[in-house]
Amino acid sequence: MNILVLGSGGREHTFAWKIAQSSRCKNLFVAPGNSGTATIATNLKIGVTDFEAIKNAVVQNNIDLVVVGPEDPLVQGVHDFFLRDEELKDVSVIGPQAAAAELEGSKEFAKEFMMRHNIPTAAYESFTKDNVEEGYRFLETLMPPYVLKADGLAAGKGVLILNDLNEAKGELKSMLVDSKFGEASTKVVIEEFLDGIELSCFVLTDGKDYKVLPTAKDYKRIGEGDTGLNTGGMGAVSPVPFATKEFLDKIENQIVKPTVEGLKKDNLPYVGFIFIGLIKVGDDPKVIEYNVRMGDPETEVVLPRLKTDLVEVFEAMANQTLSNVTIEIDERAATTIMLVSGGYPEAYEKGKTITGVETIKDSIVFHAGAIEDDGKVVTSGGRVMAITSYGKTHQEAIKKSYQSIENLHFDKMYYRKDIGFDL
Ligand code: AMP
Ligand code: GLY
Repeated sequence: MNILVLGSGGREHTFAWKIAQSSRCKNLFVAPGNSGTATIATNLKIGVTDFEAIKNAVVQNNIDLVVVGPEDPLVQGVHDFFLRDEELKDVSVIGPQAAAAELEGSKEFAKEFMMRHNIPTAAYESFTKDNVEEGYRFLETLMPPYVLKADGLAAGKGVLILNDLNEAKGELKSMLVDSKFGEASTKVVIEEFLDGIELSCFVLTDGKDYKVLPTAKDYKRIGEGDTGLNTGGMGAVSPVPFATKEFLDKIENQIVKPTVEGLKKDNLPYVGFIFIGLIKVGDDPKVIEYNVRMGDPETEVVLPRLKTDLVEVFEAMANQTLSNVTIEIDERAATTIMLVSGGYPEAYEKGKTITGVETIKDSIVFHAGAIEDDGKVVTSGGRVMAITSYGKTHQEAIKKSYQSIENLHFDKMYYRKDIGFDL
């Protein structure tokens, strides 16, 4: 079949890399893609939310299956757009329709969903500019730190964690009254702070059944020792060492099953990935967020551990026969280290020439913010490349990635030298 992947990051290069290994894939396209996807697929110069241009590309190239990488097109209804269109309605789309994508698109919707289906999560209340005063009163009843979340999509920046009550009140006002995050902060969810270690669980569902993929943990902060500003992710490991069989069973029984059942009960059709952000509080998992897509850079360690043909899995999801699929996992650990542009996640320069990629033999280089320009690979974003390695242990895999990185260069290249320090 002919397949189109939407997106341009490391996640989408990893999808393309895995799909290209399948004998079920005839022609592979990525829109808009990057310099990595260009080596294994045809890049199409189309934005991920330009639905009319996507339609033209799908019709012109006889695409049978579309895999949606990022959340924006899902929340904006790309799947619904396909279902409504005579020419597109039989094309399979991996990614939920807009109604279910609200699990990521609205924090309040996600919290109400969890309450309705008894899924463990932090206690919360939500507020608008009409009841800011009540928000202040609610903050006064909580113990610090205070967790404020913009309801809508805010490119990963919408969550504030503050130690001081007055500062928390000030931020609440700035979000609700001064539109700190624009439309996204018209509503704010204030929730109980959960103290524990974070991990992520990835689930595939066809709306009827589900399969659990390996767990992963990403390193969100820019600085070593988990310090400094939040980023999209500076590295990741899979599996998560502290996720024992017993703990994974709890996640499946208390969270995954009620989530998939809840989608059915609420009549929210869902064919796609569910990325569940969790915190281990004591011995129990609690949900901090749902994402309706895979994580980046978590994909760069989860998919390399999947032995099963990904295209066959997608076909089964689209045909609602996921229960017949066996997911086989590589026992080895996988780790990835993200190379970023100096300055990221604040201002940084682009267009720096990247050298050494072709010399890497012991790791897999997944391109992210990198494009081809005049025969050269140059930086085009903050997160530039993810260097993934396998190992018998995490330490062995991490060491291989760091050795590979010694051969990679671009001006002002930065990466964390302590990925896995806490394992
Ligand atoms: P989110 O966008 O909801 O994943 O939140 C971003 C980050 O904020 C998470 O990865 C956590 O590190 C942190 N966070 C979110 N909610 C809570 C909470 N209730 N308690 C503690 N930390 C949280
Ligand atoms: N790495 C976190 C995310 O993809 O949301």
